[in-house]
Amino acid sequence: MLFNNRPAKSPERDPSTLSNYDSIDVSHTDLHFLVVFEEEKVNGTVVFDLKARNDVKKVILDTSYLVIKSVEDVSGNEPSAVEFLLQERLNALGSPLVIDKALQKEQELKLKIVYETTSECTALQFLPKEATDGKKTPYVFSQCQAIHARSLFPCFDTPSVKSTYTMKVDSPYPSLVSGRFQKAENGTLYFEQPIPMASYLVALASGDITKARIGPRSDVYSEPANIDACQHEFEKDMESFIQNAEKIVFEYEWDRFDTLILPSAFPYGGMENPNITFATPTLLSGDRENVDVLAHELAHSWSGNLVTNCSWEHFWLNEGWTVYLERRILESLHGSQASHFSAIIGWNDLEVSIKNMGEDAKRYSVLVQDLKDGADPDDAFSTVPYEKGFNLLFHIEKTVGGKEIFDPFIKHYFTNYKYKSLDTYQFLDSLYEFYSDSKKAELDSIDWKTWLFSPGMPPVDPKFDTTLIDQCYSLADKWYHAVIDGNTDLEKTFSSKDIEGFSSKQSVVFLSTLISFGDKHSFSWSDHKTVLPFMAKIYSRYTDSRNAEVLFKWFLLQVGEKNTDFYDSLGEWLGTVGRMKFVRPGYRTLNEADHNKAVSYFKKFESNYHPICKALVKKDLGLA
Ligand code: BES
Ligand code: ZN
Repeated sequence: MLFNNRPAKSPERDPSTLSNYDSIDVSHTDLHFLVVFEEEKVNGTVVFDLKARNDVKKVILDTSYLVIKSVEDVSGNEPSAVEFLLQERLNALGSPLVIDKALQKEQELKLKIVYETTSECTALQFLPKEATDGKKTPYVFSQCQAIHARSLFPCFDTPSVKSTYTMKVDSPYPSLVSGRFQKAENGTLYFEQPIPMASYLVALASGDITKARIGPRSDVYSEPANIDACQHEFEKDMESFIQNAEKIVFEYEWDRFDTLILPSAFPYGGMENPNITFATPTLLSGDRENVDVLAHELAHSWSGNLVTNCSWEHFWLNEGWTVYLERRILESLHGSQASHFSAIIGWNDLEVSIKNMGEDAKRYSVLVQDLKDGADPDDAFSTVPYEKGFNLLFHIEKTVGGKEIFDPFIKHYFTNYKYKSLDTYQFLDSLYEFYSDSKKAELDSIDWKTWLFSPGMPPVDPKFDTTLIDQCYSLADKWYHAVIDGNTDLEKTFSSKDIEGFSSKQSVVFLSTLISFGDKHSFSWSDHKTVLPFMAKIYSRYTDSRNAEVLFKWFLLQVGEKNTDFYDSLGEWLGTVGRMKFVRPGYRTLNEADHNKAVSYFKKFESNYHPICKALVKKDLGLA
């Protein structure tokens, strides 16, 4: 494959690190975290086993808002202090720690750094006990992806660098990290991660945490008050997810797959921290309809955690592949109607998210990102790497002749690249090599340039099976036509029965479709003042829903279409969730309906939100 923008060397350099990782290898990282709840900080020590790949004058690590206490060379018997300089912070990439240690090619160095986190740490969120469910103990959790590991410990903070880890934690409360538990000794917990992993996968949580079994190799952890709900939500699916994923790719290598359900402030749906996926409590709907998030995080055990994007410019290799595997798992369990249903939802989300990108965000609608100007990967985050990435893989699958022919490539690719980090060009090389002559013409028929480097929707309109989605569309159409045809007898036309048989996901699609009519037909529900209040009366099940996805869409429809009855319910609800997928559009919608209300609810709840979430909502509301 020839692209005139292909870099001379693959994997290409990661622009989101200020370290000199490309000159130094890390074979092992030893971490010690001492959690100081009273001061909301971590006192840390990190020891790296390094080996120079070529001559270097300095060792340069990433840091962000850390205080560096000491740097020592501990290679020999006698530790010796090493000079260092913490450079000034420029932007989201943080402050490089320049360590005055020259190394010759092949020279090894054991380097020990003692440091502390500060109140500006973006990787950690400390919750006072009042902000937890049980209100008994404080809580702390981390979120390092994409570039926040550097605010938890000094490191080569790039997904291009992998090492094995040992981790020790001292905390007054039960603690978890992204490794296998070894032992507890004198109050210290010992863990190890024998599979080389990238810094963004380092994770820590500590608080009033207990566990319950959800499968032969899986436990769920949470605060005691939630543990039964967690067990019920996941125990039916967990092991079958793992077994089906193993059939599609290969054996699960990480030993256990456990999940921690965090307090509501956790800003994502899920985070694939090895051995301990972190997930939002908004998955707990009682209907087991949000379990696909765990299938997704599990799929990262192969795509992302074993085979890793070399930089956040190639993030689609992590997420696109993971969505692809997630849907294959779903398909092997529930058939292709179910996976296609999920793919259509994804396609619709992609359309909405691309349409809503402002002029300055358009650059992020390309699959292979350009972050060379130092852009913050958090700003680049969107549905695009997920759904455009999925669609590219789905299109490749179809183009080479279907699943039977594509499946051997899946195994080949993951076997070849496990424990490594790669860029998009290497992915393409691998694909072309695998099919060499047999499918070259077919592969060449793919419009790679557009798929990979052009903004906007994919160049191919996929054909998905619409069986499960048609019912949602037709009910939405019925409402739309009733309204534009001036039907005055809505009571006769609609009833609570309409939605009785819908799964939560079907309800989500039905509601999204109603929302989308506002734009598609230059039509607005708010011009027909009585309709949405009437809908709220007969579909009261939505107002009472325990499924956060359903409730969220319901609020977006009602508040987006200016039904004032729902402004305060949405505002209050935003105080109970911390997942950015809900919080950001929730405030944006409330803001468009009633700016003052949005701002006053945000002010009321902002201390509950995660630092990343708070910063982004502030930008969204024009308060930054
Ligand atoms: N790895 C991501 C979460 C992430 C991405 C955190 C980038 C920080 C930066 C995780 O696997 C994910 O994609 N979570 C999704 C769930 C999913 C089912 C698409 C989420 O949080 O909504
Ligand atoms: Zn993911």
